[in-house]
Amino acid sequence: MSDKQNTDKLWGGRFSEATDSFVERFTASVDFDKRLYSYDIDGSIAHARMLKKVGILTDEEAGQIEAGLEFIRKEIAAGRFEWSVELEDVHMNIEAALTADIGDVGKKLHTGRSRNDQVATDIRLYVRDSIDRLCAQLSQLQNTLVDLAEREADTILPGFTHLQTAQPISFGHHMMAWNEMLDRDHERLQDCRRRVNQSPLGCAALAGTTFPIDRYYSAQLLGFDAPTKNSLDSVSDRDFAIELAAVISLIMIHLSRFSEELIIWSSAQFDFIDLPDRYCTGSSIMPQKKNPDLPELVRGKTGRVTGHLMSLLILMKSQPLAYNKDNQEDKEPLFDSLDTVRDCLQAYIEILPALICKRENMLMAARQGYTTATDLADYLVKKGVPFRDAHETSGKAVSLAIGIGKELQELTLAELQKLNGLIEADVAEVLSLQGSLAARDHYGAASPAQVRKAIAIARNKLADR
Ligand code: ARG
Repeated sequence: MSDKQNTDKLWGGRFSEATDSFVERFTASVDFDKRLYSYDIDGSIAHARMLKKVGILTDEEAGQIEAGLEFIRKEIAAGRFEWSVELEDVHMNIEAALTADIGDVGKKLHTGRSRNDQVATDIRLYVRDSIDRLCAQLSQLQNTLVDLAEREADTILPGFTHLQTAQPISFGHHMMAWNEMLDRDHERLQDCRRRVNQSPLGCAALAGTTFPIDRYYSAQLLGFDAPTKNSLDSVSDRDFAIELAAVISLIMIHLSRFSEELIIWSSAQFDFIDLPDRYCTGSSIMPQKKNPDLPELVRGKTGRVTGHLMSLLILMKSQPLAYNKDNQEDKEPLFDSLDTVRDCLQAYIEILPALICKRENMLMAARQGYTTATDLADYLVKKGVPFRDAHETSGKAVSLAIGIGKELQELTLAELQKLNGLIEADVAEVLSLQGSLAARDHYGAASPAQVRKAIAIARNKLADR
């Protein structure tokens, strides 16, 4: 037990003994919520200006409070502020410092609000900024992908289903598939932002306040679209944090899929790509190793971020209205999710432009594995053969090729004609990789011409953001 008196606590009035020192440490959040400081100060300044507008603070009082808060902001930014665990959280640390700096007028700031609406406001402001930064990063990464797609629009590699060689595709098409995933992520973030950008300020502890406050005014000062509608919901709602964690988890899932492909492609067995040495590390025992640590780590970090989503969901499960101290546990998973996704996006922004495509190896791989068998079937269909019969004939051609150790395009015309007399010399173009790819020439398909169209559409969309 601490022998200190509780007079230094901002809520100490009804207490007759000091807080147990373990309890003090256990209940404190300042170690992790101090990163909200600038948003806490923005929220307090808006609150003080609102109190002045409705006549609760004089011009002079509000001015002193605002100047005091700006001074504290500078002190914290300069690393001169002393955070104290006894003062529990970022809100009470700043409020106590304000009163210490400007005197009793500082004690008027908390009129008509509570830490419950204060913290909800702070997190929403923090999350809103984080979403804007994430969106900018996503756009940067998408631009990188589109550039890479353009550079490699004519690069042929095998496309896979079941990780079995399927049909030839363009590397550019593959990059544009990744771009689509990120494009949806961007849309989801924008959608989430609409629900984040509502002001809980003024809902106070749970029921609103007896003062004639103007919630529309403080909402407007903070750039919120509107005040939230129900005070009980406002102080307890963390749906927006869960939504954001879900969107971030999906971004990480996408990055983990990209990572898996980069890892496979850079293996000796595939050897489709190379990552510059500066982005790889070696092994302490095997001198020949060059490991793709960056994508591996991104893949690995996906686990902790999806874990954070689960933490936040279960945090809210069964919570009665309104605010509960449980909610203090929202910050660490949320902050770590945001930090992690930021770094992972940065990793991709760095490595993608430096990706070395081993075009010859990709082409060789596409040549193997009978990737144009579907084209042979389609060719026969165009000659009037029903698709099922054409499929059968093409399957026989594959079997023949396997039997004599050839690729499909290496079969002679005579060998093919034995399977179906309708096959003519023009089949050579159909069985070639370039011919097969170019033939997939409709909206959304893999031909280089369509990839270039998709790139133009994507560039326009990105330019409009
Ligand atoms: N540190 C608290 C949190 O993060 C602030 C709100 C505390 N409110 C209260 N009534 N104890 O949730």
